[in-house]
Amino acid sequence: MKEKIILEKLPEHVAIIMDGNGRWAKKRGAFRVFGHQHGVTAVKETVEAATEIGIKFLTLYAFSTENWLRPKEEVDALMELLVRSINNETETLIKNNIRLIAIGDIESLHKNCYDELMNTINITANNTRMTLVLALSYSSKWEITQAVKKIAEKIKNNIIDVNDINQELISNSLNTKDIPDPSLLIRTSGEYRISNFLLWQMAYTELYFTPVLWPDFRKNDFYSAIIDYQKRERRFGMTSEQI
Ligand code: FPP
Repeated sequence: MKEKIILEKLPEHVAIIMDGNGRWAKKRGAFRVFGHQHGVTAVKETVEAATEIGIKFLTLYAFSTENWLRPKEEVDALMELLVRSINNETETLIKNNIRLIAIGDIESLHKNCYDELMNTINITANNTRMTLVLALSYSSKWEITQAVKKIAEKIKNNIIDVNDINQELISNSLNTKDIPDPSLLIRTSGEYRISNFLLWQMAYTELYFTPVLWPDFRKNDFYSAIIDYQKRERRFGMTSEQI
């Protein structure tokens, strides 16, 4: 698979909705958490796959604002799993020159999760090979609401005028202000939804859906998505002739 990828035509930013952990566990008669635990292997494979071919930004939707509504045991287990995974992988991130950042309401995370996250974010801040973005306690409507508040505050304090509001200002008021818009979105588990993820940023993102459940997702599944993306023509509303 990897050999079929055109390295000059890579998507700059790949975003992933990692879905299907619960169903993967259910198929095995196990608790949902078992699926999340195996999802970590898929995360590692995907980060490795993306780094190997030279992807510059990889965003993983690890925990949504709505996920807080899940049973407490599952939320606690996910937080623990995040703490452990971030802790276990920090060395690998450093070794591979990967920078970790996070988007979302990260201050709402359990304290040990927040501390672990901030620690790795700080340690890897100057890494340059790839940026791994974790979307944690994230939802696009939350993010856009925050941006609207920030802009309104600036108008109220006479820092800007209503006429200064434009697309650039809105983009720069989002959590993703230093991240290019995703070129490609991958969603696993055969669901065809965006689920409140990067709604503003995905205006022209190519969408790729696969029936593979997240815990089964491996390097070749990632490469298949890239190959599919490379066959597409991105017109951004223009005609073929114009681009
Ligand atoms: C969606 O499957 C998955 C999640 C809500 C959690 C994803 C988290 C991980 C893979 C664990 C660790 C992550 C990192 C970044 C180390 P689901 O539970 O919605 O599955 P279902 O749709 O089959 O119920």
